[in-house]
Amino acid sequence: MGLPDWAGLAATARQMVADGKGILAADESGGTIARRFAEIGVESTEPARRGYRTTLFSADGLGEHVSGVILYDETLRQKMDDGTPVPQHLSACGIVPGIKVDKGLVPLVPESKEQVTEGLDGLGKRLEEYRGLGARFAKWRAVLTIGPGTPSLACIHDNAWLLARYARICQDTGLVPIVEPEVLMDGDHPLARSAAATRQVLAAVFAELRHQDVHLPGMVLKPNMVTPGAKVFGSASVVEVAAATVEVLRACVPAAVPGIAFLSGGQSEQEATDNLAAIAALGPHPWWLTFSFGRALQASAVRAWAGKAENAAAAQRALLERASANSGALRAALARR
Ligand code: 13P
Repeated sequence: MGLPDWAGLAATARQMVADGKGILAADESGGTIARRFAEIGVESTEPARRGYRTTLFSADGLGEHVSGVILYDETLRQKMDDGTPVPQHLSACGIVPGIKVDKGLVPLVPESKEQVTEGLDGLGKRLEEYRGLGARFAKWRAVLTIGPGTPSLACIHDNAWLLARYARICQDTGLVPIVEPEVLMDGDHPLARSAAATRQVLAAVFAELRHQDVHLPGMVLKPNMVTPGAKVFGSASVVEVAAATVEVLRACVPAAVPGIAFLSGGQSEQEATDNLAAIAALGPHPWWLTFSFGRALQASAVRAWAGKAENAAAAQRALLERASANSGALRAALARR
């Protein structure tokens, strides 16, 4: 393995976040996609998952709003109806294919509500295979919870170290790492508590990225927006959420990072779009800001699909409506400068 192609990594990272385009997170694990399908009364079988996801990826003009798609291991190996492998189809649409590479969450210690993310063992080998299959970026999600005594220092530091180690292995294998430390919205905490926890987590993550010599221009940060807890979500306005989010990011994220792509974290489609628009409107920012939504891009689309091939066009329309609402908000903010 030679030296990483730093310029190539930076170019891919920029392509993932620039010009008002964002990322479609379609990397739900087996358990998560089964829950989403159960909500619409559909059994999660391999053909059903392929049918749903290839329907989304066939939406005409998706590449005007979406720069990249995060895939799950199974999907990276599946084919479109015409036999084209999914990653090659996406690339042909001008969309960068990526892959979720963490192996999910385990308790930090027995009985703990806090969790750490597994998946470092053998990661380099898996990434080489993924690269061969067409993936150009990867994603690893760490989860932090706000509650009595949490997030704990141990949980913050273990997750920060794991994220940085994963990011370093990605770059050494020629993939752009999406670094995702998610401070969950669950709870009834005020906005200020989310701001403090997010700041503490991001500070630890960037300290570890530095220790492990991760090349910041060749990565993308995927953080939560700073919001009040889900149970009291309406206790802060969109303007307050945007201001708190930007303040925390400016304090913690070096300008060498090309882009920040927010997760939606349980916000509704419209809430996520409104908050993204308000955050973008506070620019110019030192980084590109964009979306990397799962639920906030797919909630309407999966309902419209409802497990039936004849609903493909309706599902695609629903996806394109959300994707264009988000990219439109970002482009409007860029145009005002
Ligand atoms: P949500 O936007 O639904 O939070 O999902 C994004 C994601 O990729 C979580 O890992």
